[in-house]
Amino acid sequence: MEVIALGSDHAGFHLKENLKEYLTGLGYKVRDFGTGSPDRVDYPDFGIAVGEAVSRGECDKGIVVCGTGIGISISANKVKGIRAAACSEPFSARLSREHNNSNVLALGARIVAPEYARCIVKAWLDAKFQEGHHSRRIQKIAQYESGDPGK
Ligand code: RB5
Repeated sequence: MEVIALGSDHAGFHLKENLKEYLTGLGYKVRDFGTGSPDRVDYPDFGIAVGEAVSRGECDKGIVVCGTGIGISISANKVKGIRAAACSEPFSARLSREHNNSNVLALGARIVAPEYARCIVKAWLDAKFQEGHHSRRIQKIAQYESGDPGK
């Protein structure tokens, strides 16, 4: 079973804990990179920690949560090899896997209710990258990320 890295700031703490229980119930292994309480922290510390764990191959995928999902997705996306998608409904989450091969899902605890967040997570985890012409586009992102503008 896949290993999922989890991370959140204070605003996402309760949803992260909720999702940890959900993922464990589905049979996933979970590595929790914090935060460990609702005390105020900075979302980049957790978005980057999850991104690095996924980028290094220590975890298969990551799920990060902040108030909106935006700050923590921006942070995770600074890590090489990370394609983090901030999603507030299941359709985008599924397509972020199928077309963009997203390896981190970002959620906003102030945007989505916990039950709906679980639906988004399930749609994301169940979807598979479709490869084909989508691979060329992912490759272009990786090429730019490696310092080659490719033009
Ligand atoms: C924290 O108040 C909030 O700014 C953070 O959780 C997130 O929404 C930032 O993008």
